[in-house]
Amino acid sequence: MARRAVVHGIGHAVPAHVLSNADLEKVVDTNDAWIMQRTGIRERRITTAEETTSQLATTASLEALASASLAPEDVEMIVCGTVTGDMLFPATSCLVQSSIGAKRAGAFDVGAACAGFIYSVAVATAMIETGQISNALVIGADTLTKFVDWTDRATCVLFGDGAGAVVLKGVEGGERGVLKTALLADGGGACHIDIEVGGSRYPAGAAVSEGHRRGIFMAGAEVYRFAVVAMGDACCRVLADAGMSIEDVDLFVPHQANLRIIESAAKRLKLPPEKVFVNVEKYGNTSGGSIPLGLYEAVEQGRLREGQVVMTVGFGAGLVWGANLIRW
Ligand SMILES: CC(C)(COP(=O)(O)OP(=O)(O)OC[C@H]1O[C@@H](n2cnc3c(N)ncnc32)[C@H](O)[C@@H]1OP(=O)(O)O)[C@@H](O)C(=O)NCCC(=O)NCCS
Repeated sequence: MARRAVVHGIGHAVPAHVLSNADLEKVVDTNDAWIMQRTGIRERRITTAEETTSQLATTASLEALASASLAPEDVEMIVCGTVTGDMLFPATSCLVQSSIGAKRAGAFDVGAACAGFIYSVAVATAMIETGQISNALVIGADTLTKFVDWTDRATCVLFGDGAGAVVLKGVEGGERGVLKTALLADGGGACHIDIEVGGSRYPAGAAVSEGHRRGIFMAGAEVYRFAVVAMGDACCRVLADAGMSIEDVDLFVPHQANLRIIESAAKRLKLPPEKVFVNVEKYGNTSGGSIPLGLYEAVEQGRLREGQVVMTVGFGAGLVWGANLIRW
């Protein structure tokens, strides 16, 4: 009998501070009409100087554990998809492990940028399916606004901060659970989105780092073209693997980077608008947080119910892309 990783609880966290397009007009030469027309983003949440990724991740995790009725000390593994951890090391998942009191859990981070939650769910699912663990707390959390170049109007309008978390539990038999996953990468496109300074190539403060970028760089047009193709590619692969068709999908929860990218991908996949979840207007691109935040709100709004099939798909810096097909 197949053992599946079933979603038992979900939580979320966003900072309280709202940064609207009108606020951004005071920071760079931009305007609400341009941002809305090119991206669909109306506002985003941003962390204060004191708020960290692990704090958002902790709040989301505690809500997920409560909704799964799982005590922190019974969590066996914590996987956190993030590229904006509190520090280069230790892993942010370890900080969460301590703050929630998950005394028996292992913990590690997954660095797959905006596909971080997709990758993290896939890894935790494999560990559950093979019997290594019986449950996992899987988090997607990022605070990209801390790394934004606030003088670059082409990127600073796009990002926001947020986190989401799910509890996966191993269940023998049954229909529910993660059905198939697809994980893909093309490091040849690494130069299209990056932060140069802060790693071993250009350490912060080192002479070799002079003149290199400390904030997010993105080749917008290249990433746009990649994103539309990548989303379709990942979805088609998991559907083929699962022996299912797009008509079997009840809800599509894509990475929320840009409304136009989501609409183009949905059109290519022949998904009607009522099956496509969008909240990019409220949060912008929250990287690893975006898909679990979408799932959380879809559940809250009654658009995702137990037994329904949801397609989650992400793409981002790496380049990486992937999808998880889940019977909720
Ligand atoms: C970033 C993005 C919205 C830009 O949209 P675009 O239609 O490609 O716009 P362009 O970059 O061609 O810029 C068009 C013009 O708008 C200007 N512009 C850029 N940002 C602007 C802003 N915030 N406000 C006003 N004008 C802006 C540009 O300077 C350019 O002006 P020019 O024609 O005088 O040179 C789009 O490329 C995109 O969404 N890319 C993918 C982003 C993404 O998904 N990233 C996350 C990956 S996880």
